[in-house]
Amino acid sequence: MQGWTRLIRNATVASCVDGKPYGLIPKGAIALAGNRFAWVGPAKELPSALPKSVAVTDVRGALVTPGLIDCHTHLVWAGSRYREFEQRLNGTSYEEIARAGGGIASTVTATRAAGESDLLSLALSRAARLVAEGVTTIEIKSGYGLDRDNELKMLRVARSIGKRLPLTVRTTLLAAHAVPPEFKGRADDYIKCVCDEILPAAAAEGLADAVDAFCERIGFTPAQIERVFTRAQELGLAVKLHAEQLSNQRGAALAARFKALSADHLEHVEKEGVVALAAARTVAVLLPGAYSYLRETKRPPVELLRVHRVPIAIASDLNPGSAPLASLLLNLNLGCTLFGLTPEEALLGVTRHAARALGLRKERGTIEPGKFADLVIWNAEHPAELAAQFGMVRPVAIVREGAS
Ligand code: NIG
Ligand code: FE
Repeated sequence: MQGWTRLIRNATVASCVDGKPYGLIPKGAIALAGNRFAWVGPAKELPSALPKSVAVTDVRGALVTPGLIDCHTHLVWAGSRYREFEQRLNGTSYEEIARAGGGIASTVTATRAAGESDLLSLALSRAARLVAEGVTTIEIKSGYGLDRDNELKMLRVARSIGKRLPLTVRTTLLAAHAVPPEFKGRADDYIKCVCDEILPAAAAEGLADAVDAFCERIGFTPAQIERVFTRAQELGLAVKLHAEQLSNQRGAALAARFKALSADHLEHVEKEGVVALAAARTVAVLLPGAYSYLRETKRPPVELLRVHRVPIAIASDLNPGSAPLASLLLNLNLGCTLFGLTPEEALLGVTRHAARALGLRKERGTIEPGKFADLVIWNAEHPAELAAQFGMVRPVAIVREGAS
């Protein structure tokens, strides 16, 4: 009981620790010591006399989960791509739009033109939507700047979001997202610029926690990405990859070779890639919102991921082109209805496994003594409710690093 400051009792605790479904403790209690969890277990195992200084909250049976983690977003951008939504519904594909100079390139034009403070207020309002639904940690990527100054501008905006909202932000440099117009037809030269200029600048300013790339016919080849990853690792940065979203480029195997934190999308991954992810303990991040928004039909091979025991995370992919859907909870539901995940897999995908996808496995993602005290109290009684509906189960209270 030493150092206990707060006790939450009469809770249905979905601790998300390994060992039993949801890490569920039906009549549970959670003790905090400052910004960390100090104790969690069945209420009947609590010591009988608590020091008076401990603030006690009775949540009357309500569900308590770890703070949610959205481990893949591109929420810093300017402009809108609603016309592409119209185009796609009139029969043009995402890939065709990109090849015709729309898609990512159009967001790059708008984002380059935007000032840092405008970009910040746009991004803050999107991040606030996630915070309101219980998200306490997010990853935010650059990737709409595609030159040194604009990529750094995006990363600075991402970092400031973590100072203005009760949110832990992990930033990812995604300079290898698309070939910028000034390098048209010279992808290799752009990759050289990413490796020699953009990456070292982001690392020197401490603006990036990880490095990502888009491995795709409309993105970069595995050979080009290998150069980016090699440079990232020389600079001490973790890597992750947009892999197998529209086609199988063997991106998952590449990511695994570099011991990537995660390989994301994976609709087109095959057995070889899955086996490689399993061996590297790389997290498979599934993005059902993007799959749904692009009206894709090839689902990621969930059963294969299960059989090979690849940790599965779910994220919003919040971005202007393939997923302008500012809700992680929506993705829990879509993960189940579209990909066949169970509600338990969905919840672990936005808690324990999402923490691993961000390199935060030891600090966040479960309710366990020693970890940061990020938690959500819900108007629900059972953790399956989080995925089993949309828009009705909401946070009653959110605690981030011990503060609400
Ligand atoms: O995760 N696939 C690449 N990147 C984003 C979409 C970017 C965009 O269309 O603006 C994604 O889907
Ligand atoms: Fe993405």
